[in-house]
Amino acid sequence: MTTVDRYATFAAREARGVSPAYERLSEAVARDGELLTRIDTLPPAKRQPNLLFGVVRLLGGPVEDPAAFRAYALDNWPAVEAEMRVRATQTNEPGRCAVLLPVLASLPQPLALLEVGASAGLNLYPDRYAYRYGDHSLGAGEPVLDCAISGTAPPARRPEVVWRAGLDLNPLDVRDPADVAWLDALIWPEHGHRRERLRAAAAVASAEPPLLVRGDLVDDLPALAARAPREATLVVFHTSVLYQVPPPRREAFAEVVRGLPGHWIANEDPDVLRYPALPEQPRGGFHNVLALDGRPLAWTRGHGQAITWFG
Ligand SMILES: C[S@@+](CC[C@H](N)C(=O)[O-])C[C@H]1O[C@@H](n2cnc3c(N)ncnc32)[C@H](O)[C@@H]1O
Repeated sequence: MTTVDRYATFAAREARGVSPAYERLSEAVARDGELLTRIDTLPPAKRQPNLLFGVVRLLGGPVEDPAAFRAYALDNWPAVEAEMRVRATQTNEPGRCAVLLPVLASLPQPLALLEVGASAGLNLYPDRYAYRYGDHSLGAGEPVLDCAISGTAPPARRPEVVWRAGLDLNPLDVRDPADVAWLDALIWPEHGHRRERLRAAAAVASAEPPLLVRGDLVDDLPALAARAPREATLVVFHTSVLYQVPPPRREAFAEVVRGLPGHWIANEDPDVLRYPALPEQPRGGFHNVLALDGRPLAWTRGHGQAITWFG
């Protein structure tokens, strides 16, 4: 995919209807020869819109107005480029727990959760957050995760979690203000509710920090899985991770995870983790596919706003 295509596709597929500011920016970058030339000096994996926009936000640059963004990015290119080279998009969205919950709650309890591509591990606390599926509420306290659910009943309970561990190439620490600043910069400009959710989920995680291991989801998964308590159901899960993993490694990962005991939950872009047949995708923006043990179950909105169970 060319960088023009990458920015135009991000505008149309991910930002439209979700972040007008990022839709404007990515459309403007897709037409901007000078910025595109600079971006193309970076390795392909570092050319992502989310990474560029997040770095400019982290540095204090403007992201609402394309002309101001362009001037800032070009004037400060050495600093922008340096940050883009050392960082990756590690958006940690606890809202995704709301779409994982119906599956987690249906498995034999208690659970030993192992998240690959965990970032700061905020999705390892589905038992601690509160949920609102329409007028059905579950749990108390903060954050409250709102999710529109259709095609299935909302979960009747939260899971019982006795062990939680995450694996990531670069685990982030919610107790480190610099890591929280990066997580904050990755949240899209208009999404104040997600910023609040990040603070509330970070407080939950800080009170009982998860076991986070630096490592690769293929090479290091078996060793971490072996540390899970035997008396609990092992659940290996991942959300919005495999797009960062080269296709042959995705296959290798699927093979490793299929060889483990317990269950495997995937919540990924259907272009990244493919299934033989899927129902038509609901309208209204980008959707992931939620799958249990390789069987696709539902469409889910990117930040966990909605889940549409297959009929
Ligand atoms: C977009 S973030 C998603 C974080 C989290 N799953 C969520 O949904 O909030 C993707 C994460 O996957 C991690 N990652 C990418 N490739 C990986 C690999 N080969 N092994 C382990 N983690 C990886 C990145 O470092 C990053 O933290």
